[in-house]
Amino acid sequence: MTSKKQSPTPWTTTTEKEKHSKTRETTQSKFFIINFHFKYFIFFLISVTSWFFILFFFLPPTNLKHQPHRSSLSSTKPIKSILVVDQRRQRNSSTNVSSVYIYNLPPEFNLGLVEDCAHLNIYTNMCPHVANRGLGQQLPLSDDGGETDSDSGSGGAWFATHQFIAEMIFHARMENHPHRTWDPARASLFYVPFYGGLHESSKFREMNLTARDELAVRLVDFLRRQPTWRKNNGKDHFMVLGRTAWDFMRSTESGPDFGANSLLNLPRVQSMSVLTVETNPWKKKTNSNQYGLPYPSYFHPSTSAQMLTWQSKVRKSNRSHLFSFIGAPRKGLEKAAIRDELIRQCGESTRCELLQCNKDKNNKCYEQSEIMRVMTGSEFCLQAPGDSFTRRSTFDAVLAGCVPVFFSPHTAYTQYGWFLPDNPEEYSIYIDEEEAMRAKRVINVEEELLKIPRERVEKMRKTVINLIPRLTYKHPNASDDGGGGFRDVVDVAFDALGRHVRSILAGNK
Ligand SMILES: *[C@@H]1O[C@H](CO)[C@@H](O)[C@H](O)[C@H]1NC(C)=O
Ligand SMILES: *[C@@H]1O[C@H](CO)[C@@H](O)[C@H](O)[C@H]1NC(C)=O
Ligand SMILES: *[C@@H]1O[C@H](CO)[C@@H](O)[C@H](O)[C@H]1NC(C)=O
Ligand SMILES: *[C@@H]1O[C@H](CO)[C@@H](O)[C@H](O)[C@H]1NC(C)=O
Ligand SMILES: *[C@@H]1O[C@H](CO)[C@@H](O)[C@H](O)[C@H]1NC(C)=O
Repeated sequence: MTSKKQSPTPWTTTTEKEKHSKTRETTQSKFFIINFHFKYFIFFLISVTSWFFILFFFLPPTNLKHQPHRSSLSSTKPIKSILVVDQRRQRNSSTNVSSVYIYNLPPEFNLGLVEDCAHLNIYTNMCPHVANRGLGQQLPLSDDGGETDSDSGSGGAWFATHQFIAEMIFHARMENHPHRTWDPARASLFYVPFYGGLHESSKFREMNLTARDELAVRLVDFLRRQPTWRKNNGKDHFMVLGRTAWDFMRSTESGPDFGANSLLNLPRVQSMSVLTVETNPWKKKTNSNQYGLPYPSYFHPSTSAQMLTWQSKVRKSNRSHLFSFIGAPRKGLEKAAIRDELIRQCGESTRCELLQCNKDKNNKCYEQSEIMRVMTGSEFCLQAPGDSFTRRSTFDAVLAGCVPVFFSPHTAYTQYGWFLPDNPEEYSIYIDEEEAMRAKRVINVEEELLKIPRERVEKMRKTVINLIPRLTYKHPNASDDGGGGFRDVVDVAFDALGRHVRSILAGNK
């Protein structure tokens, strides 16, 4: 060690010096000494030339002092213009990129549940909906949503997707994700692919609460025993739920029983991050582990070309109605009063298209083609809260390039922070009808919408259309993930989770 330090000959340490970025002056003074030894001079000249060569091509001028080769390669502009850095490699070499390990859970927690699809939901047969890994039945439509002849329908991007199925699609997407790792030692995120929503909806009517909670308790017991869990006490673990958080937060006080289980009340689940289509918005300010995840809509493209085709169609769409409302009247709740009022206003306005959902069988309001026809034909789509604050319809509206109109901040603003712009005015209209009704006033929605300047409407629509990719669930078999593919819900969620977990583990939260 000491000998190395004491007598470094200039020749043998040239390469080391490159690494330690000695100054130019030192080498220049040495130049005169070597000048007498021609042999050495040639050798030195080559070294110096290659040194400058390396400096010029591989190191940014400002970064000479501390130069972690790989990160400077991917982070400096001049280099990028010289070397064509493959996007894949760049993403891989970035130190911020997370890798995800997917637990291989016993089938009773996911795929086993799906096998009994006829009994998964007390209201409907889920078998058609769990098909195609949760995308549902494929629709015979071309990329621009138009009718297609039967044989070109295979490869298509449109599906009759159920609103509460995000957990299945997320799982299928993660399994093919480029950042999946099979080695838990290399993972920074741990995904627990429990189909908690599908299971919960099969137990709505289970009166024995112990039996209703049994599977959730067993899941936590399974996790507790994993060495990968113990490493960070589950703080780097996450779960995805396709139903609202309310379905998993059974109140301990005696109250009406809506069929919820207690999954989200379990302490071990509270140390994980939980993505759900509707969070409890009042817990946000305290220490919630719930993060809003968009509902799935009907469009699941595999390529950017399919996405661009649809976006372009939506941009050109002829919006002959100022606004529209799709939904059913609700009974009882305070929120229902707003719905009834909107249905009345929409029905009375020639500028509004009303698609009312009734219980009868011929009702078109659950059909993709009818929903897209109405929404691509309207400038604004009313999003009145329903049984809960959020609606899948919000995401159908964005997909249709229809600017959403909200009546509660909890329908989107307090929910989907990872996915929507910070400023709601960029992409939506907010009408405080609830407040007005409390004051025994009624706001005329049509009048409010007509007041908005043309340019602002165009600008909002442009923002909405640009949001489509990040609010879309890509087809799980999409193969262009690493290259030019667009970034979808799962990619955005994955990055946000990575940042979030890093910050938790660093003790910032
Ligand atoms: C990242 O690197 C690993 C090995 O270092 C490789 O197996 C993997 O395919 C790379 N991922 C991407 C997206 O290129
Ligand atoms: C990587 O993480 C650092 C620190 O958390 C952050 O400042 C930087 O913006 C991140 N880079 C990327 C590309 O996400
Ligand atoms: C994805 O591809 C595999 C293999 O071709 C196929 O078996 C599977 O059904 C596909 N998944 C979906 C959701 O279409
Ligand atoms: C409730 O369910 C649990 C677990 O399945 C069972 O052990 C218990 O006997 C049940 N209680 C009643 C009252 O049926
Ligand atoms: C747009 O809609 C209006 C009203 O329905 C109709 O008169 C017009 O022909 C349509 N334009 C196109 C290009 O379809």
